[in-house]
Amino acid sequence: MTTSKREFLKMAGSGALLVGMSPILGACAGVTRSDFEPRRGKAAKIEGLEPAMADILFLASLAPSGHNMQPWFVKRINPYEYVIGIDKARLLPAVDPENRESMLSIGAFVENLCSAASSFGYDARVEVIGTSATDENLVKLTLTKTTPSDFPISRINSRRTVKKGFQNRPLSADHADTLTAVWPGHIFYFNQESRHVKCLADWTAEAFRYQTFRDDAQRELANCIRLSKSDALKYGYGLTTESMEITGFAGWYVRTFMNNEDVMGASFRNQGIDLYAAMAQEGAGWIIIMSEGNTVADLIETGRRFERMALMVREMGIAIHPMTQILEEKQWRDQYTSLHRSAIKPQFILRVGYLDSYPDPVSIRRPVERFLQA
Ligand SMILES: Cc1cc2nc3c(=O)[nH]c(=O)nc-3n(C[C@H](O)[C@H](O)[C@H](O)COP(=O)(O)O)c2cc1C
Repeated sequence: MTTSKREFLKMAGSGALLVGMSPILGACAGVTRSDFEPRRGKAAKIEGLEPAMADILFLASLAPSGHNMQPWFVKRINPYEYVIGIDKARLLPAVDPENRESMLSIGAFVENLCSAASSFGYDARVEVIGTSATDENLVKLTLTKTTPSDFPISRINSRRTVKKGFQNRPLSADHADTLTAVWPGHIFYFNQESRHVKCLADWTAEAFRYQTFRDDAQRELANCIRLSKSDALKYGYGLTTESMEITGFAGWYVRTFMNNEDVMGASFRNQGIDLYAAMAQEGAGWIIIMSEGNTVADLIETGRRFERMALMVREMGIAIHPMTQILEEKQWRDQYTSLHRSAIKPQFILRVGYLDSYPDPVSIRRPVERFLQA
């Protein structure tokens, strides 16, 4: 992107060009989840699959994942037995060479699945069958009919990652206690005043900068970005301007005048670095989730606890933004882990904060039939 384009984008971002343009902006909004008919909260009918199970799998797929890669597949053994595995075509080797984040994402998928199943009247028994990060089959799921729970499915439908507009006031003691109680001894909250947080914000910005100029990592990101509606609909996974929170006129500009190759350019990289560094300074503080080990079972359990927490925060008006670069880049990971006992493994670094108004989910999803192996 040229310097003049960059200046133009800056003006767009600052709002200078937005006055009086709202009707036009409405008409040129980017693709969001609601554009994916018939996937508005319900799965399409799938031959050979009970309608309740199609809905349960659809709800499971609303789980978060790194770069929205949705690294899961589901094998149907019979109506009550399923195997959940890791889709090797959907990994992120440049930023996640050991599949740690993919397994955390699959843990979040399993958590959504179990919660959704309970509200449809199924008890889901989870057995971790994977023993190494390279195993394809990770979890065996057995369903038995039971009384429906009162778990509100709306929590799954309305969960989303939020990155911008965090207030700087700390979490209330009640909210902090409720969230850390999701996994006592593993989930820790640090408010903005703590020394820990100053390190987290600075190191996150540094690690992000380093990663942004690592070409293989930036190429991986560029390959995940869906600028056109047709690409978003074709792939059903990856990042859109809306999910990266490049909205309004800036989003329209990026979708209209940029292509995936521009993501490799210095201008896109530098703007991303400035934005990420500014975001890292905002909010109520950070939540860290630690596990005892790095086995498949540890990572699935950690992903489940993360999602259990993520499903609670909207009702409290709290946003969660995973910022993972410290754990992805060796220099910062070593620095960070050296501050902790070696028996404890940091798995999630999450910025949290209250929002004035909570936006609806926008990230795209593949339809169930694309990740189901009947
Ligand atoms: C393991 C994991 C790591 C993630 N790391 C980051 C990150 O470093 N930066 C970021 O902006 N979002 C990160 N995310 C958020 C994803 O980009 C987001 O979940 C995905 O785009 C889907 O959007 P949704 O959560 O709104 O459904 C991460 C999510 C997971 C599960």
